[in-house]
Amino acid sequence: MYINFWYAAEQSENVTDKPVGVRMLGQDFVLFRDTAGVVHCLSNVCTHRGASLAGGTIEGDCVGCPYHGWQYNGEGRCTTIPALEKTAKIPKRARVDSYPTTERYGLIFTFLGDLPEEERPPIMECSEWEQDGWRSTTIVFEWDFDYKRSIENALDPAHNEFVHTTHIDKKKGKPFQVPPLDLIDHEWGTSFHIEMPAPAMFEEKMRDVSGRDKPSIFHIYAGYHGVSNFWTFIEPTPKFIRRQHFYETPVEIGKTRIFTIDLRNNMLDPKDDERMVYMDTLVMDEDAKVLLGLRPVLQPTRNIRENLTQADSHMVHYRERLKDWEALGWRIDQDELDRNRDKVAYAIPSPARRMSKNWTLDTVPLLPAKMKATISKVAKN
Ligand code: FES
Ligand SMILES: [Fe+2]
Repeated sequence: MYINFWYAAEQSENVTDKPVGVRMLGQDFVLFRDTAGVVHCLSNVCTHRGASLAGGTIEGDCVGCPYHGWQYNGEGRCTTIPALEKTAKIPKRARVDSYPTTERYGLIFTFLGDLPEEERPPIMECSEWEQDGWRSTTIVFEWDFDYKRSIENALDPAHNEFVHTTHIDKKKGKPFQVPPLDLIDHEWGTSFHIEMPAPAMFEEKMRDVSGRDKPSIFHIYAGYHGVSNFWTFIEPTPKFIRRQHFYETPVEIGKTRIFTIDLRNNMLDPKDDERMVYMDTLVMDEDAKVLLGLRPVLQPTRNIRENLTQADSHMVHYRERLKDWEALGWRIDQDELDRNRDKVAYAIPSPARRMSKNWTLDTVPLLPAKMKATISKVAKN
């Protein structure tokens, strides 16, 4: 798992008048809204004696610990210690990490890392969100598979024919052969475009909305953004486009929450939402059936333990990019973390750690950096 990316923490509608606990990157966080409705994300471990702030209450602009009532504001600073007289000094170390937080696309995004604002990778865009002529549905999935395995699956055009019942017409005679993929560089990832034969059942249904007699080819665009986001754009015809965005959040090793936003420019009646959600859930279930059975559970440490082909080229590219982000010193040292499990409470470093050293919790161990953090985007070939 990697620090220094934005992660979807929760749906906005689920964070109202109580603190909400969220687990991400193997650590615990608390989300809460202040009196102005602004949402904050703090490390969940109280600096007094380690209670879970998510089990506490909202006190004005602060979250109050359930154990002895210490209160922390949105910056993570302790402002009140009820057991002390009002004149008593609050220790400077009584401070938890506070993470940059913003609301977009109906989700709460948190930047889990210490990079200054200008160096942070951006949130993956959902350009058509709330635009005229577009309608969206959102689904949140929780799965016991690793997010990297899921991203690899999304970048793999060859699986559609075998995993999905609705994607390709198997009756058309010959197997779908993946052409050499021409990878397109984006700032924080790559994508490809591919044409796929449409299933006959879909042709029938599409005839009316497409305005085309035989929408026999689907144009598919798929790409990843950062370590844990991807998108799939499906374009049977310009009159019917689906833009699916997957914000995957590693909960811990082998556990993933997937926030899915699916936009469409046809079938805009709210009554059609149910059908879209049904279809997306069906497809996700089909993918999950395979992903849950993959061994090893995590990416193999060496490609030699697999037999990769040309059709896996985009996935291989993603693996190479992960190595670059690891070389920047952004990857959590999971072995070290596991060694200290139950003995040490850690925090993901927040940007304020670069300003002061006086903190209670250690930051999560990271694999050593091998290059400078100035070359974090995708290098043009
Ligand atoms: S542990 Fe939080 S106030 Fe004591
Ligand atoms: Fe799939």
